[in-house]
Parts: sequence; C-alpha cells; structure tokens
Amino acid sequence: MVNNPTIETPKRRAVVAGTGSCVPDKILSNQDLTKIVETSDEWITTRTGIKTRRIAQPGQTTATLSAQAARNALQDAQMQADEIEMIVIGTVTPEMVFPSTACFVQDMIGARNAWAFDLSAACSGFVYGLSIAHQFVSSGRYHNALVIGAETLSRITNYQDRGSCILFGDGAGAVILKAANEGSQGIMYSTSFSDGRGWTALNCPAFGSRNPVSKPLADPSMVYMQINGREVYHTAVRRIVELVNECLEKCDLGVEDIAMFIPHQMNARIIESVGKRLNFTDDRIFINIDKYGNTSAASIPIALDECRKSGKVHKGDIILLVAFGGGLTWGANVIQL
Ligand code: UT7
Repeated sequence: MVNNPTIETPKRRAVVAGTGSCVPDKILSNQDLTKIVETSDEWITTRTGIKTRRIAQPGQTTATLSAQAARNALQDAQMQADEIEMIVIGTVTPEMVFPSTACFVQDMIGARNAWAFDLSAACSGFVYGLSIAHQFVSSGRYHNALVIGAETLSRITNYQDRGSCILFGDGAGAVILKAANEGSQGIMYSTSFSDGRGWTALNCPAFGSRNPVSKPLADPSMVYMQINGREVYHTAVRRIVELVNECLEKCDLGVEDIAMFIPHQMNARIIESVGKRLNFTDDRIFINIDKYGNTSAASIPIALDECRKSGKVHKGDIILLVAFGGGLTWGANVIQL
C-alpha cells in the first residue's frame, strides 16, 4: 500500500450525534427481475445475497431521499437544521450536473447557515465525506457537519443487462458529526485511497464532458453504469482486507475490539470472504444487502443507522466502516460511538 500519513488523533473529537436514513417504499424483488431479464432468484441469492432492492418513484430524487434522511438524523441528534454548518453529499447520481445535490438539500431542510457541496467517489463517497468532515470538525473550524451518502442508481441501471441490474438499489443515509472536547467518543482514524488507472472497471460514461448526452453517443447504453464485476470483486476483497489491517494497526486495536464491522454492501459473498480472512465473527459483521441491494454511497450510512436503531451497537462501541468502489476509490473510518 502507498504511503498514507497517520492522522494524529486530536483532542477535539468529531462525534456521531445522530443518524438517519430513507429508502423508497417500492420494492423490486428477484422474482420481479426474472420477468425482465434471464435470471433466477437462486442465482441472484447465491451469487450476491440480494433478495430485494428499493426503487425511487416519480418525484423521488437523490435530493428528496437525502433531505428525509437528513431530517431523521437531525431529529435523532435533537438539532435544528439552521444549526448545521457544513453539508457534504457523496453521490454519483446527483440531482443535476449542477448545482450540487447538497445545495438542493440545504434548501429543502432549511440549513441556511451551512455551506454545501457534493463529492464524487462512487461507493466510497460516504467514507470520503466522513473523512473530510472529520478534519473540519476536529480541527475546530466547524462545530458540526451533516454527511450524507445518497443514490438513485435505478436511474443509471441498464435493466437489459443481467450482470448489473440485479445488483443496484436506491436510498440515502445521513450522519451528523458534532464536536466534543472531552471523552474518547468520536472518529478515531480515517484513511482514503484512489487509483484512477482502474476507472474502466466501474463507470457511467455519458453525461460528462467526454461523452455529452447532447451529442449522439457511440452506444446508447453509455448512459448506464458499466461494470466489470469479476475485476471489481477480486480487487475489492484485497483492498478491504488491507484497509482493515491498516485501521487496526494505526489505532492499536485487535479484531476483537471492533464491536461491528460495517462494510459497503457490495455483495454478501465479498463481505463474507473478507470477514473470514480477518477472523470477524458473523455477529460482528453487519449485512443488510438482502433488503436493499447495492446502494453505492448510501449503503454504509443506511447500515449504520439500522445498526444503531436496532440496538446492534451501543454508546462506547468501536465500529469500522470500510468502502470500495468506482474510481477506483477505497477508504475507511474507525469510530467510537
Ligand atoms: O459496489 C461496486 C459495484 N459492484 C460491483 O462491481 C459488483 C462486484 N462483483 C460482483 O458482485 C459479482 O462479480 C457479480 C454478482 C456481478 C457477478 O458474479 P460472478 O460470480 O462474478 O459471475 P460472472 O460475472 O463470472 O458470471 C458467471 C456466469 C456467466 O455465465 P457463463 O459465462 O459462465 O455461462 C454469466 O453470464 O453467470 C452468468 N450471469 C447470470 N446468470 C443468471 C451473469 N449475471 C447473471 C444473472 N442471472 N443475473
């Protein structure tokens, strides 16, 4: 792994003060998909662990899902929207080319005192966002930050491609970080990586400067996500194992100190294979991909919200968030709740 400087844990901590999530009501089951492409519930379940995913309906967008997740997080943190100082949204399915989805969300929730921006790191968007907000809050520049991971992947999914359409779903998750000058709670360590040479493995080539949709596209399917699933699978396992080992070493922790490992919900087989290599027991690996499929940047904050609200993690627990995705990008956060 290349050099990544250790982030000194400052005295001032960025603590998780609240979480929220929002997924569309509309369910797309494996059975439903068998009517669209040549596949089976058995194939999808055994290869991915996915049973259902949620699909945004007309009127539901990345910003509306984000805004609802943010309202739920504000309620959980017992804060008002106008107290929020910074909004970061990780997404590859933004509301528009510009302005940012974060600006739409700022307006929708009434966070008039915040500055707001999106970041593009595919499935690593939320862990990248948390790393950035961590720096601003722990340095003392801001008192709090709202970090969101949100996607409407169904809008860039090719439902004629059975290799990819079975994977993706829509949703949003939000976390509010708040500064604390005492105690050991908060983000202990963040680490982020990318390798642009791997861009071909996962991308959506249209809509940008290289292939504008205003000009005839070489292939109309360029408006959809293109994935090389096999390549992503193997690289993801390797990088996630590296990330976990780095986090444990830098924080001087053992696997047994991690109360819950919350990986990006990419494929249950990938998660299980990583868990086995690292000796995590099943009860300390969080998996909800069966319900929501792969929601890219939204998957970790949705999982974290479910984990907290279902009582699977408690105050004082140390959790480990790890993501890998398009870019290629990968990163992790170690947090004491
Ligand atoms: O979060 C980042 C984005 N996520 C990813 O990039 C996903 C990572 N990769 C994966 O999760 C897995 O690679 C997949 C689930 C996408 C595919 O699983 P796999 O075990 O790697 O299957 P494969 O692509 O090697 O395909 C095996 C066979 C092929 O048939 P042949 O060539 O062996 O006859 C495929 O045509 O399975 C076939 N196949 C399907 N069969 C039934 C591919 N998709 C389907 C399908 N239903 N939906």
